[in-house]
Amino acid sequence: MRQTLMVLLFTLPFFAACTKKNTNEIVIGHFGSMTGSEATFGQSTDEGIRLAVDEANATGGIKGKKIKLITMDDQGKPEEAASVVTRLIEQEKVVAILGEVASSRSLAAAPIAQAKKIPMMTPSSTNPKVTQVGDYIFRACFIDPFQGTVMAKFATDTLKAKKVAVLRDVKSDYSVGLADFFIQKFKELGGEIVADLSYQSQDVDFKAQLTQMKSKNPDAIYIPGYYTEVGLIARQTRELGIKATLMGGDGWDSPKLFEIGKSAVNGGYFSNHYSTESKEPAAIDFMAKFKEKYKRQPDGLSSVAYDATKMLLKAIENTTEITPTNIRDQLAKIKEFVGATGKISIDENRNAVKSAVVVKVQGNENKYVTTVNP
Ligand code: PHE
Repeated sequence: MRQTLMVLLFTLPFFAACTKKNTNEIVIGHFGSMTGSEATFGQSTDEGIRLAVDEANATGGIKGKKIKLITMDDQGKPEEAASVVTRLIEQEKVVAILGEVASSRSLAAAPIAQAKKIPMMTPSSTNPKVTQVGDYIFRACFIDPFQGTVMAKFATDTLKAKKVAVLRDVKSDYSVGLADFFIQKFKELGGEIVADLSYQSQDVDFKAQLTQMKSKNPDAIYIPGYYTEVGLIARQTRELGIKATLMGGDGWDSPKLFEIGKSAVNGGYFSNHYSTESKEPAAIDFMAKFKEKYKRQPDGLSSVAYDATKMLLKAIENTTEITPTNIRDQLAKIKEFVGATGKISIDENRNAVKSAVVVKVQGNENKYVTTVNP
């Protein structure tokens, strides 16, 4: 009896370990804000990733293996991002990681992926520092010096704005960087920055900053933040009687922006990764598949996540043997990939070279205005 027990005691962990690592599967991880004040970022991203993974599995997977996606929620917190990425690598033994959306959370996790030599592909973190962490870190999107330039030019050429006020989130690497890049370009183009003010994520009252801004009489206000705060800022701007045009970046992209900001966000412009009005065949094809699966229109995050996943799966397919280092090497070689968000080439700094769009908020829809090439 005792002997059988001993045998069981020793063999059970062995069997458990065997079931954990299934060699017929390719395990990839996704970490994102599935909950919290940026929950639509994580959820939309996960939907885009799952669509690409399900599609690949429906056609037999890669090299005869099924792809298994493990998603972990970081609740929108950088410290959680670091901890779930450690778990994905150490416990789940993923060969590659997708995530995060927010640059601050990608920056918290990237050093771990880099140290463990597991390739990490962020679909949508645009701050330049993210991929500078090291040669295992990639992105599927443009970077903020480009995004800032796009809106600075738009403000100058299209809106004919001469005086612009900026309101940035000092807790967000994304917001701080994008504000700087915008200001630099707008001044270069001859514009004047009449105020450069700040807030912190989770703030709800912006009246002090907005009152200060009002006295400077700006033509436009640039708010490179995330949708929850942007929606509130927009409402308080109008409550104070400020009529300036509101502008922002990809952080505005959420079905919740209008829910929070209501009519105050109408007429605002922001730069983004894609438009649902795109006439490109790859975009039309993606939208049809997305709508069929989720019964709604995809936002920019779903589309760029879909592209990021497709590129990762392509890199895995191109390896001779599926190892994290081989996947890294193949990711670095991706050129002219035709995705839902346009044509994507990975450059020598592991950033994606691609175009941006400017859209105008009109209720729950973002109307396409223009495309800007790099
Ligand atoms: N680009 C933002 C960042 O780096 C994240 C984001 C991308 C948010 C796309 C919304 C849409 O933090």
